[in-house]
Amino acid sequence: MKKTVLWIFAVLALAVAGTAIYRFCFRKSIPEAEQIVQVQSILQQNSCFVCHSFEPEKPFYASFPVIGKTMEKHMRHAVRFVELEEASEDLANAGEALLAKLEYCVLENTMPIIEYKMVHWGTSFNKAEKAVLTDWIRSRRAEILGSEEFADMPVQPIPASLPTDPAKVDLGKRMFNDTRISLDNTISCASCHIIEDGGADHEDERTSEGINGLVGGVNAPTVYNAVFNIQQFWNGRAADLKEQAAGPPVNPVEMGDQTWDDIVARLRKDAALVKEFEQLFPGEGLTQSSVTEAIAEYEKTLITPDSRFDLYIKGDRNALNEDEVKGYKAFIENGCAACHAGKNFGGQSFEYMSVFGNYFAERDDDIQRNADDDGLMGFTGNPRDLERFKVPGLRNVALTAPYFHDGSEDDMDDAVEKMFEYQLGVDPSDKLVDRITDFLKTLTGKHPDLKK
Ligand code: HEC
Ligand code: HEC
Ligand code: HEC
Repeated sequence: MKKTVLWIFAVLALAVAGTAIYRFCFRKSIPEAEQIVQVQSILQQNSCFVCHSFEPEKPFYASFPVIGKTMEKHMRHAVRFVELEEASEDLANAGEALLAKLEYCVLENTMPIIEYKMVHWGTSFNKAEKAVLTDWIRSRRAEILGSEEFADMPVQPIPASLPTDPAKVDLGKRMFNDTRISLDNTISCASCHIIEDGGADHEDERTSEGINGLVGGVNAPTVYNAVFNIQQFWNGRAADLKEQAAGPPVNPVEMGDQTWDDIVARLRKDAALVKEFEQLFPGEGLTQSSVTEAIAEYEKTLITPDSRFDLYIKGDRNALNEDEVKGYKAFIENGCAACHAGKNFGGQSFEYMSVFGNYFAERDDDIQRNADDDGLMGFTGNPRDLERFKVPGLRNVALTAPYFHDGSEDDMDDAVEKMFEYQLGVDPSDKLVDRITDFLKTLTGKHPDLKK
């Protein structure tokens, strides 16, 4: 009897291992390039480019009075949500937001929209096409994450730490808090990015106040987890944290200096500091490059792992209560993660503020339009980028009010409601909004200097 059971186990184990090995080899046997060609042709064959393109070819009925107008509206919404024709040319470099969007429409079966399917039968993904898409999405995501773990999720937990040089971190932290970087010794990075409170500016400041009480045009995003963003600033004008740190000191309404030479000259009066920079940056010493590099190194430690949500998806099923779990599901099922993707729940793409409707036309009259409202266009000069903003990360969002690039919203509920209205074209129930905000509050993570 015992022997038979053992045999059954052995055969079962072999079967399981065999399947795993077979699947592993089979996967590897489709090279990435071929997988991408398949994905491209699936998108093409299912008419995805008809609507998700900046220069779509109009179908024959586009000129019909009613259908034509409806179609035009759909096309406008479609391309504002996601452009696919140009994106499909560069799938090898697809980012997390594109992956999250495609995954969403495959899993939720949303595309093409119903009106289109009624006219064009057979334009939904079949089972085999879905499998190719999901396989590609997951392997590309694993490539970005450097791991298979969580490659099936549009949002992922934050690692406990990132590799850094502790001596540079320590120096960078002091630089971050050093008011000598500002023209009149009054402002440091920490004046606007309050590390104890969430890394953003004071709650009562819609936009930041810099040197001499001058006020800037946008709300200060948090520095926590900024390291996970693909680019820095609302309009992406800095490629990384080092490049970003060079900006505020010579911004006339932030720290007020004319040039970095002035700043470096001022800091060089401190002999001990000069010596320390020479030790840590041999051959370079204290320069703009080394100061900003030290600050960026420090910012890599400003990450907030172990939020209750992170504990939950890593396996602690008691870390979230029932309503919070429902809120998490609602966040995914309503497509929030299609834009708020990745470890930081955002920071992976530039999206239009208003896929549906017109946020700017309906905004509070007290807020004057300024150049910052142009978003990404202000950096690229491309008219297509008008009013596209880097999607803010939602980590610690309970601590970073007011919300949006213009700081127009004090209340998280209202911000979420606006997202439903302008990004998803949905009128949500109060209960749905409550659930999602309950969930968003579970994204507050841990950092030794965070006092909340
Ligand atoms: C007839 C126009 C049309 C076609 C064809 C179409 N879409 Fe869409 N798509 C839209 C519109 C409009 C939206 C905006 C959301 C909405 O109204 O549901 C959208 C939204 C999306 C989204 C955002 C999330 C979502 O699912 O709502 C994705 C991803 C997407 N489309 C992918 C595709 C893919 C892939 C195809 C090809 C199978 C496709 N679309 C075909 C019109 C279209
Ligand atoms: C006067 C207030 C002020 C000061 C001083 C200041 N910042 Fe900022 N910071 C802001 C504002 C406002 C933005 C958003 C600007 C934009 O996107 O155009 C910002 C953006 C950032 C971002 C980008 C985050 C993201 O998600 O895009 C980082 C990182 C950052 N600041 C770090 C620093 C560092 C480092 C210093 C010191 C060298 C500094 N800040 C000084 C107000 C300030
Ligand atoms: C089409 C992309 C897109 C979708 C879908 C989307 N968002 Fe956003 N979200 C953005 C962008 C872009 C901003 C910044 C807008 C601005 O500052 O003007 C933003 C801002 C926010 C903010 C404010 C954060 C801050 O720090 O200022 C919250 C909260 C938020 N979104 C939650 C959600 C929720 C919840 C959902 C789903 C109901 C959602 N978003 C769906 C793109 C999107």
